[in-house]
Amino acid sequence: MKGLILAGGKGTRLRPLTINTPKPVVPVANSPFLLYQIDLMRSGGIQEIILSLSYQPRKIEDLLKDGSDYGVWIRYAVEGTPLGTGGAFKNAEEHIDSTSVVFNGDVLTSVDLAAVIAHHREKRAVATIVLTPVENPSAYGLVETTPDGWIQRFIEKPGPDEVTCNTINAGIYVLEPSVLSYIPKDEPYSFERGLFPTLLERKEPVLSFILDQYWIDIGTPQKYLEVHHDILSRKFMSPRVPGRGLERSLLPGGVVVDEKSIIDSDVTIRDHVRIENSVIGKNCKIDEGAHILDSVIWSGNAIDADARITKSIVGKGCYIGRSAILRPGVVLGDKTVVTDFSTL
Ligand code: GDD
Ligand code: MG
Repeated sequence: MKGLILAGGKGTRLRPLTINTPKPVVPVANSPFLLYQIDLMRSGGIQEIILSLSYQPRKIEDLLKDGSDYGVWIRYAVEGTPLGTGGAFKNAEEHIDSTSVVFNGDVLTSVDLAAVIAHHREKRAVATIVLTPVENPSAYGLVETTPDGWIQRFIEKPGPDEVTCNTINAGIYVLEPSVLSYIPKDEPYSFERGLFPTLLERKEPVLSFILDQYWIDIGTPQKYLEVHHDILSRKFMSPRVPGRGLERSLLPGGVVVDEKSIIDSDVTIRDHVRIENSVIGKNCKIDEGAHILDSVIWSGNAIDADARITKSIVGKGCYIGRSAILRPGVVLGDKTVVTDFSTL
C-alpha cells in the first residue's frame, strides 16, 4: 500500500506566508506541516509515500529528503506545470501499483486511517472518500450519501442554493489503481470536478467514511491561527507537538508565560514580557515589556520593547519596532520591518 500527498498548490490564500515557505511545510507548532501528515500515514501502516509537488519543490525535498529521518520512504513526483489534484495523481502513475491512500496536503486530522482502509476493503469500493461535517460547506466539496454510506453526488464549492447537507470532502481518499484509467495523461484534471463525478456517472462504487474526530484545512490565515489555538488548548493532540517544558525559574523578573504557550529553543525573553496562548519559533528575541497574545510567531524575529501583538501571524526574520502594535488579523511575510510606534 502506498501513500500520496498532494502538495503542489501555490497556497495563495496563505500569502504572504507562502511566498518563501510552501504551504505543505509551513510550521505548525514549530514543525513543518507535512510531518503531521507523514505521522498519520504511518499510523495507517503506510511507509512508502509519494510527494506530489509543483510549487517550490526544492524547498520541500531539501527538508524531507528520502524520509528516513521520519521513518518512511519518500519519493517525489514533480509537475512542470500544475496538473490539478487528479492530474497530479496520474503523474505518479508509475509508482501506483496497488490500493493507495491520498491526502490533500493541507488537512490536519486525527482520523483513524486504518479503520478507513478496512472499511474500503470490506465494502469493495473503488474509491472511499472521508467526509467531515462543517457549518458552511460552500468553501469545500459537498458530498451527498445514501443511508448506507455510498456516495451519490459530489459538488465542488457549491453555491448557496446547492447546499443540501453538511458533509464535505475531507481531502482523504483510498483509491484503487483502476480509477487511473479515467484520468487523462499530461493534462490538468481535478479529482473533485472530474474524477469523482465521473465515477458516480459510471456507477462505480464510491464509499464514504464519516469522520467524528478533529479535522481542519489549514489553508487560510484564520484557519492557520485556529489550528494553533486548537493545539494550545489540546483540542488537537499529537506526539509531534512539543511539550511545555519551559524552565520558568530561569526567566527574568516580571515575565508571564502562560501554561499553554509553546516556546522553541534559543528564544531570549527579557523583563516583563507577557506571552499568552501563543507559539514562538526558534531564535526569537523578545524585549522588555512586549506582549504577545493569541499569536503565532515564526523563527528569527526581533520584537522590540513594549510591542503589542494580538491574534496575528509573524513570518520569519521580521523586526517589530518598539511600542509597535499589531492588531488582530495582521499577517506579516518574512523580513517585514514594522517601524517603532506604528500600528497595523
Ligand atoms: N501536485 C499538485 N498539483 N497538488 C495540487 C495541485 C496541483 O496542481 N493543486 C492543488 N494541489 C494540492 C494542494 O497543495 C492542496 O494540498 C490540495 O491539493 C487541495 O488543494 P486546495 O487548493 O487546498 O483545495 P481546497 O482546499 O480549495 O479544496 C479541496 O480541499 C477541501 C478540503 O479541505 C477540495 O478537495 C475540496 O473538495 C475539499 O472539501
Ligand atoms: Mg485546502
